[in-house]
Amino acid sequence: MVLPMNAIPSPQGPHVACIMDGNGRWAKRRGLPRTAGHTAGEENLAAVVRIASARGVGHLTVFGFSTENWVRPKAEVRHILSLHKRLFGRIEELNANNVRINWIGRPFDEPGARTPSFVQRAIRQAIADTATNTGMVLTVAFDYGSRTELLRAAQQCASNSSSDEPISTAAVQSRLYSSEMPDVDLIIRTSGESRISNFMLWQIATAKVYFTERSWPDLDAVEFDAALALLHT
Ligand code: IPE
Ligand code: IPE
Ligand code: MG
Repeated sequence: MVLPMNAIPSPQGPHVACIMDGNGRWAKRRGLPRTAGHTAGEENLAAVVRIASARGVGHLTVFGFSTENWVRPKAEVRHILSLHKRLFGRIEELNANNVRINWIGRPFDEPGARTPSFVQRAIRQAIADTATNTGMVLTVAFDYGSRTELLRAAQQCASNSSSDEPISTAAVQSRLYSSEMPDVDLIIRTSGESRISNFMLWQIATAKVYFTERSWPDLDAVEFDAALALLHT
């Protein structure tokens, strides 16, 4: 029998979030176009998913493309979009690792949303095809911005103000893009930037923060374990 997605309990294990930064600089250092850096970044994400899943991470949430990133050159954006299609197409691999895929971002049918239909299809398909997996949940943030998410939650709370429901933290939480998602325990940002860049401002309230000089395409198991060690400090 196929279980509906919400019937599968949230996996045990920490919630790790990654701001996958530095693809462009990684490529530049090698004399390659920025697009090559994004390709390497997508491939390394597949590797990080395997590592995180093997380490017993419960949720891995990654920043793939922000609401601010649409201003990048058209050709770069096109390339990043095609990589998301590839990422959401890695069904066999995700199933082999018992990973359930999830997505956060501006809902497709809401004003301002910019996810193109071919990426929407890939997202829907990936969610459906991995829905019964019981291991790590991989959430990809695409067309995502935290302020937009929080503003939407606040607006929904306000428009509901005639009801008996008070505007509480629980009320806001329940209106986030992925309301079932637990708080983030550890956030990792690569490539030497010590900024949060509008990523999960609500969800990281109590998270440990790990910044590394390494570019995203070079984040390996040794570095990932060093970040995980922060959870025990
Ligand atoms: C992160 O790498 C990927 C996205 C933001 C889509 P960047 O493209 O930001 O790489 P740098 O920061 O320019 O090196
Ligand atoms: C953050 O990286 C967004 C993603 C990783 C998708 P950016 O490279 O876009 O962030 P800023 O502009 O340096 O803050
Ligand atoms: Mg960057």
